[in-house]
Amino acid sequence: MCGIIAYVGPDEAAPVLLKGLERLEYRGYDSAGMAVQNGRGLEVRRVCGRIEALTQRLREAPVAGTSGIAHTRWATHGEPNELNAHPHVDTARAIAVVHNGIIENADLLRVELRRRGHEFRSETDSEVLAHLIADQHDPPLHLAVSRALRLVEGTFGIAVISALEPDRIVCARKGSPLMIGLGRGAIYAASDASAIIPHTRRVVYLDDGEMAVFDTSGCDIVNMEAMSRVDLRVEQIEWDLEEASRGGYPHYMLKEIHEQPETIASTLRGRIVGGGEAVRLGGLREVADSLKTARRVIFTACGTSWHAGQIGAYLLEELARIPASVEYASEWRYRDPVLEPDTVVIGISQSGETADTLAAIELAKRRGCTTLGIINTVGSSIARLTDAGVYLHAGPEIGVASTKAFTSQVVALTLFSLCMGRRRGLSSELIHEYLEALTALPDQVQKILDRADEIEALASRLAGHDNFLYLGRGYSFPVALEGALKLKEISYVHAEGFSAAEMKHGPIALIDEDMPVLVVAPRDASYPKVLSNMQEVKARGGHLVTISSEPNGLAELSDELFTVPHTVDALLPVLTSVPLQLLAYHIGVLRGCDVDKPRNLAKSVTVE
Ligand code: G6P
Repeated sequence: MCGIIAYVGPDEAAPVLLKGLERLEYRGYDSAGMAVQNGRGLEVRRVCGRIEALTQRLREAPVAGTSGIAHTRWATHGEPNELNAHPHVDTARAIAVVHNGIIENADLLRVELRRRGHEFRSETDSEVLAHLIADQHDPPLHLAVSRALRLVEGTFGIAVISALEPDRIVCARKGSPLMIGLGRGAIYAASDASAIIPHTRRVVYLDDGEMAVFDTSGCDIVNMEAMSRVDLRVEQIEWDLEEASRGGYPHYMLKEIHEQPETIASTLRGRIVGGGEAVRLGGLREVADSLKTARRVIFTACGTSWHAGQIGAYLLEELARIPASVEYASEWRYRDPVLEPDTVVIGISQSGETADTLAAIELAKRRGCTTLGIINTVGSSIARLTDAGVYLHAGPEIGVASTKAFTSQVVALTLFSLCMGRRRGLSSELIHEYLEALTALPDQVQKILDRADEIEALASRLAGHDNFLYLGRGYSFPVALEGALKLKEISYVHAEGFSAAEMKHGPIALIDEDMPVLVVAPRDASYPKVLSNMQEVKARGGHLVTISSEPNGLAELSDELFTVPHTVDALLPVLTSVPLQLLAYHIGVLRGCDVDKPRNLAKSVTVE
């Protein structure tokens, strides 16, 4: 989820690359760098921090040259610091690479390359690429790149320059977007149209398995499998700049909702091993012993992350048979809780900066507990403070209302619970069933997104109401809370989430024909019970909107019904939350709200 820009043309490369990085900054902003070919060799400048810091560095130490590559990073492997920033160079500083994606066999490749005399300077998987390409010796560069990429497992969008081949750039793509921009006497490459649009609207989108080789005289697209040239498929970009940074979506929130098949796959990537039979969470290696002897787990979080924590607590008790609960960080930190050293405290946070969650983890540390983080932002305060953790790898979330981070949190919590369960006697059949279900999730989410217009139509039927009830039981109870929170945040409509079972202890008094009651009722263990709660709503004239899974017989009972694919009970929240995100989004838009920047809310609450 980082940004790449490359340039070759008549002008100085550095200012063009810097401008491009500024436009890509929304994709990642913890470190940045560029490499420029100056006719004799490569000049590399890298900084930790925002693009501004790179601009400053270039003022102090300018580079000259008319071709170069640049990158703004959103850390996945390795802390955000200067050494881990891109571009990465090989030992002789003859090859520079910028990379988006994950090299899954980086550890193995690194061992072999070290044996062959390559010296590594960073903790990143990406640096392997620079050494691997250099290890293929002979120019031309594009042949060395294609030979190197044959040895790589994982995903990549890369741009490469060489000290030996002035004004030539090689790009390649597998699973991470890259496009080539054809300007007048200049050629650009970027991970994202927003960096190219100011220069040209004529672009070629690289397909997976393709490579682009270009200099000022032109661009060849090569199929890496056959090593044969393919036709230039030139397309015209119609988006304006702002639309481009939102990937063509009208709001970041909608873009992030639609990114979920990709972000869920990214959370899973490299973590299901052994031919689909086991889970590997590399970030937990150092605390393996504490996890083995843990007698209790407490999740602590705020907002949407707290909802994920509640699902995590249910999961952990079910799969690992270990007492688990979730606490609002803001309450828990002031409560003088009973904490023993064999309690594991897990902070869940998209930003990794929420002040209350950070303080709750500090408290747990002071009491001698092992602390973990389930965090999206690599190198954030909570990630640094905890003893170990699991990163979400969902990419920057910009819409204030959390969407893709939530589904990735549930996925990460499932992986964690399977890991814990395995140590505590969870059967390999059940692990297998869960891993199969996890693997199927991205496609299942895509199937729901393909029917987004049905939710948009539902939103237009409901947008006039001023009060909503959301109900669910079991794993769907936190989904009901999350659905209601989304609607409140985005559309300023009053919405309350309850356990469907608790309805008769109060909320049932609110139900009449003006009250849409949204029931999350997938075919899970709670289904028969929820069914009677739905009948209670209907008997009181409530307008029943049901989200269920396949197959169900709810069409008659419900006034509105949306059905998602089925999966194991604990993963149904990933599927049932997607229509609720879309519903909140569309009601917000229909009511004229600024959904990306809802009033009074902040993306990251760094004060108490
Ligand atoms: C804010 C955001 C929410 C988010 C919560 C926790 O209130 O508006 O969307 O769920 O903070 O944030 P975190 O970054 O810790 O997950």
